[in-house]
Amino acid sequence: MPQLTILRYPDPRLHTVARPVAVVDERIRRLVDDMLETMYAAEGVGLAATQVDVHERVIVMDTSEARDRPLVLINPEIVARSDETVVAEEGCLSVPQIYDRVERAARVTLRALGRDGAGFELEAESLTAVCVQHEMDHLVGKVFVEYLSAFKRDRIRSKMLKRSREEQRRA
Ligand code: NI
Repeated sequence: MPQLTILRYPDPRLHTVARPVAVVDERIRRLVDDMLETMYAAEGVGLAATQVDVHERVIVMDTSEARDRPLVLINPEIVARSDETVVAEEGCLSVPQIYDRVERAARVTLRALGRDGAGFELEAESLTAVCVQHEMDHLVGKVFVEYLSAFKRDRIRSKMLKRSREEQRRA
């Protein structure tokens, strides 16, 4: 299984809105497996297809301590969210080494299809709830830094551009 290249903010492709998966077939299962491998290799807790430049509604996650409980969400939809919110420090594989606080619903209920194409419902809380909301934002073209102030976002954008110029120079 090949690892996929993760797009880095401020790549404009990160703002693409993903379309629903029409059928969970071999192609989608391969995508899911490659995304899981990429996420584990990068030591992330979640990865949306948008981040690997595939614009279909597919998310992989693993918020377990032991990193042995992969969760696959195809065509996820949030059907309920708590009024109660939490503020947690978030990071993103597309914005490496940047962490900041974002307010999210404390609990969400979602419906999705799994890797086998079967539908299921999930009640998520704490880190899993935060991660679901963060990854679902990716599918509509939203990166977590867009919740921050314009000042912080501009600073992050410059830092990321500077870093990629330095990497290109070293390459
Ligand atoms: Ni992310």
